[in-house]
Amino acid sequence: MEHKENILGKNKLKLGIFSANCSSGMAVTKVPERWENNWDNNLKLVKQCDEAGIEFMLPIARWIGYGGETNFHGNVLETVTWAAGLVAHSKNIQVFATIHTAFNHPIVSAKQLATLDQLSGGRIGLNVVAGWNKPEYDAFGIELPSAHDKRYKMAQEWFDYVSKLWTEDEPFDWEGDFFRGKDVCSLPHPVKGQMPILNAASSEEGKNFAMRNADFLYTPMLDYDHARTTVKDVEDRAKSVGRKVGVLSFVTVVCRPTMKEAEDYLAYYADEHADWEAVDNLMTLQGMHAQSFSRDALATLRDRFAAGHGGFPLVGTPEHIANLLEKISETGVAGVALAFVDYAKEFPYFQQEVLPRLEKKGLRAAFRV
Ligand SMILES: Cc1cc2nc3c(=O)[nH]c(=O)nc-3n(C[C@H](O)[C@H](O)[C@H](O)COP(=O)(O)O)c2cc1C
Repeated sequence: MEHKENILGKNKLKLGIFSANCSSGMAVTKVPERWENNWDNNLKLVKQCDEAGIEFMLPIARWIGYGGETNFHGNVLETVTWAAGLVAHSKNIQVFATIHTAFNHPIVSAKQLATLDQLSGGRIGLNVVAGWNKPEYDAFGIELPSAHDKRYKMAQEWFDYVSKLWTEDEPFDWEGDFFRGKDVCSLPHPVKGQMPILNAASSEEGKNFAMRNADFLYTPMLDYDHARTTVKDVEDRAKSVGRKVGVLSFVTVVCRPTMKEAEDYLAYYADEHADWEAVDNLMTLQGMHAQSFSRDALATLRDRFAAGHGGFPLVGTPEHIANLLEKISETGVAGVALAFVDYAKEFPYFQQEVLPRLEKKGLRAAFRV
């Protein structure tokens, strides 16, 4: 599958929203205004983003909460059904479903996503996650393969199977290591026979999976140098197999009229009122079973996990945040997904104050419907 140019639009810096389907979003905090992931709030948010020209909405697939006082991510809207609701109430924005290859049969996922793509006029995307969270495997009664490469072998077969279901018109048999099927056929296909593909990961195997299959690797950025190195690494890997793969990352936004207000609010929600028990549970599980963050990085990132699940912090005035986004863009990162403590309340200020500054910098075009 070749890279689809401008797959998420033509803006140099693409913007999305991450994790609005999950309780507390990305902020592991006890503050009362933390994100309520109910349908009304999601609906309000998708309409705001759609009208502002934000490129995509990206959910987290989560089946078990992380405990702590708030049971962080204990309440999560399932991502395929969530995406169906969002596309029904929007016109332009691309909506991703995040799918665990271990927990979803390829025939079911292929048809669900193709159906959604048909009903949205081609506005669905797929975020493939190979899985890592042991309590979720326990919940499904499935063993988490201890070898990382085995998880990705299964993810690769899952993806190959789904891709074939999306493009074959005639029934075929599937004889793989993980899946078998006889006389399989899945119609309709996605509108363009394919859709934008993200792979959320950062291990070696994860990067290689993205190199082979995805349009974008969705991955953490520790600092600008790390982002630059990741972009170069992913581009080089992709080039070696004749493909183009971009990098998307995620950020925590606290945007206020003054630096002091922004910093005070960060200290209030992500330090004084952080749900530290949930932060530690989340970090322990990530450290044990995923390689998204190295052990050294995890040790220094506790504050960032409280503030936004490890997202790169954008804290300050609109001017400051626009400048930081420009620096991110200069690393070659193609776009970022944003998270706010209360998305729907805070997004309008970001739209009003930050988006025009990004337009002036030439990073985004003014959005007109
Ligand atoms: C930015 C980002 C987003 C992710 N989103 C999810 C998710 O929604 N659900 C999930 O189970 N895992 C998610 N993951 C975990 C990865 O998909 C992957 O299973 C995990 O990081 C282990 O793979 P890795 O060691 O190759 O990074 C995410 C990882 C990253 C880096």
